[in-house]
Amino acid sequence: MTIRGNVQSPILVAGGAGFIGSTFVYLAAKAGRKLVVLDDLSTGHRGAVAAAEAVGDVRFVAGDVADGPLVEEIVAEYKIGAAVHFAARIEVGESVRDPAQFWDRNFVATLRFVDALRRAGVGRLVFSSTAAVYGIPAREPLDEAHPCAPVNPYGATKLAVEQMLASYDRAYQFRSARLRYFNAAGALPEAGLGERHDPETHLIPNVIAAALGQGGPLSVFGDDFPTRDGTCVRDYVHVADLADAHLRALDFLAERDESLTANLGTGNGATVREVIEAAAAVTGKPVPYAICGRREGDPPTLVAASGHARAALGWTPQRSDLTTIVEDAYRFFVARNTP
Ligand SMILES: NC(=O)c1ccc[n+]([C@@H]2O[C@H](COP(=O)([O-])OP(=O)(O)OC[C@H]3O[C@@H](n4cnc5c(N)ncnc54)[C@H](O)[C@@H]3O)[C@@H](O)[C@H]2O)c1
Repeated sequence: MTIRGNVQSPILVAGGAGFIGSTFVYLAAKAGRKLVVLDDLSTGHRGAVAAAEAVGDVRFVAGDVADGPLVEEIVAEYKIGAAVHFAARIEVGESVRDPAQFWDRNFVATLRFVDALRRAGVGRLVFSSTAAVYGIPAREPLDEAHPCAPVNPYGATKLAVEQMLASYDRAYQFRSARLRYFNAAGALPEAGLGERHDPETHLIPNVIAAALGQGGPLSVFGDDFPTRDGTCVRDYVHVADLADAHLRALDFLAERDESLTANLGTGNGATVREVIEAAAAVTGKPVPYAICGRREGDPPTLVAASGHARAALGWTPQRSDLTTIVEDAYRFFVARNTP
């Protein structure tokens, strides 16, 4: 993977102690960027920033992105030039059960954060959006012009932020890159970084746990979809490739006076059964699983058309083949569970 090493003004990273944020912070620090992490540790881990602190110029501030005065103070103290915003609630089922929390944490807090940046004179932001903004695909692969009709509050809050950012772009020339990730996966075992969600709802860590006899058989939600083997197809993208795209997006915003909306996916989907087979091959153990009913609102296939990110950012995923993703996740899982 090539990460551009040009050092610019310090970057404020909201949610930099989480899964994707900590990987970005580590790789950006290694590439020579100066970073300030702002995280309330609601789902993140203070220790996830330590690897980056060991290799680069990284500061950690404990706090809420909704705290406007704190954000303005950080911008002034560290002379922040741009921001990356990973901080959010991410569990789709929880967003259905408790939408108030999601609108508050994902939308209201983000509005406060973005407006504090604007007031403080920071006009460049990379925002973690999601394939969930599209809803049920009317065509595949999903390109950025596909209509956005989210089917859960999680996707709706992310779309609302995108719309807010578009209005900030027009009115205030506040430039943003809205990056719509598909299924973030993999790990950076060499830095001790990987997925530590609680509860873990993502497929790959759960498949590995099942293979290693932890947590019982894997639940497979439906095997009667119109796909090549009946299970859902998703587009898995390695977290290191996501981090690379963020660095490129920061460069894009610095070099071009315009905003960007781009999918981050590989364009290749894997079925749940293919993930299970990959995990069995990597771990050398069969994966026990049980077929359960479909989950409401689960589309058969979600695969990105990723040409826009390639063209605009020069981004090509380097580490996103399924075997590498599963191997990295496995190495992280084993290291984490070995005393
Ligand atoms: N994981 C995926 O597959 C995926 C896919 C699409 C989009 N995304 C988006 O990527 C981003 C990161 O996801 P992740 O998997 O790393 O999640 P994560 O839960 O591991 O990380 C989120 C981080 O944000 C912090 N945080 C949350 N609310 C905060 C607040 N108000 N103030 C300060 N810090 C706060 C948490 O403590 C945590 O460190 C999210 O915005 C998510 O919606 C993730």
